[in-house]
Amino acid sequence: RAVGRGSAHAKLILFGEHVVVYGKPAVALPLRAMRMRATAWREGTEPRFESDHYTGPLAAAPEIVEAPRTAIEETLKAIGGELEGLTVAVRGNIPLGRGLGSSAAAAGAIVDAVSRLHNVTLSGGEHFALVQLAEQVAHGKPSGLDALATTIPSPIRFQNASAVPVPVALDACFVIADTGVHGSTRQAVDDVRTSLERDHDATMTIIDTLGELSDLAITDLETNAPRSLGVRMSDAHELLSRLGVSHPALDDLVAAAVGAGAFGAKLTGGGLGGCIVAVVERGNAAAVAAALQGAGAIQTWSITSTGTPL
Ligand code: MEV
Repeated sequence: RAVGRGSAHAKLILFGEHVVVYGKPAVALPLRAMRMRATAWREGTEPRFESDHYTGPLAAAPEIVEAPRTAIEETLKAIGGELEGLTVAVRGNIPLGRGLGSSAAAAGAIVDAVSRLHNVTLSGGEHFALVQLAEQVAHGKPSGLDALATTIPSPIRFQNASAVPVPVALDACFVIADTGVHGSTRQAVDDVRTSLERDHDATMTIIDTLGELSDLAITDLETNAPRSLGVRMSDAHELLSRLGVSHPALDDLVAAAVGAGAFGAKLTGGGLGGCIVAVVERGNAAAVAAALQGAGAIQTWSITSTGTPL
């Protein structure tokens, strides 16, 4: 039986979440140890979907499967394939709704699995456009950062739907900690838009400053300046809180990381829950991870400055 396969990794936004939606730059790393994998094959007549959250007919899929379903249907439309008899299965170890790119990675894996089943090789631009259609269903008006950061296997600077690699030379590591609180990216993006409408000038000043921090942080990454990077991360967390996208559990973990000796820490991704990231001296990673668990993190991951597990 012919099978199409696809896979995409998780991503870690270091700087620029939310402000990328307004054309500001962002910096992200690939999280190579976390992936979504999709397989596609033909069996019977009824289109089906399989995942840890729902297995059954695609037509009866609950809301949680709306975005994957869009990825399947739009890919078929783009390549001229039939829905009848198609089964798509998605599995992976990226926690959902924690700002680590699970929705974009699932969509990217599906687009590849379905197109490869039909022996079609999509261009980078076609792939990106299809993932973006699924991401629109998942959370409204995505910048495209997640779509590219879950596909490109190196640190990137992202702005206005295009990405360039960043030559990271930082001799420190990152510790990521999950609050266990589900954060809605759609809600968070809507909240920022609302505050921009209500208080345009003050909100725009915060957005501009966060955008400037992204480029200053890139210099820190390229010149191995972990202390400076840490200060910028803590500054970014403060500004993101003022944008209204933090959460008490995120603030607690940021404080715990800094209290345990991290150079700095911030929320990562959409916020309102999800994860924080701290920049830490390599020898101190285990102690910071333990402090984060003590402060309530349900899971931690330690990675090098280019996204490989420690
Ligand atoms: C979500 O991972 C990143 C946001 O900046 C939204 C987006 O870029 O579309 C919050």
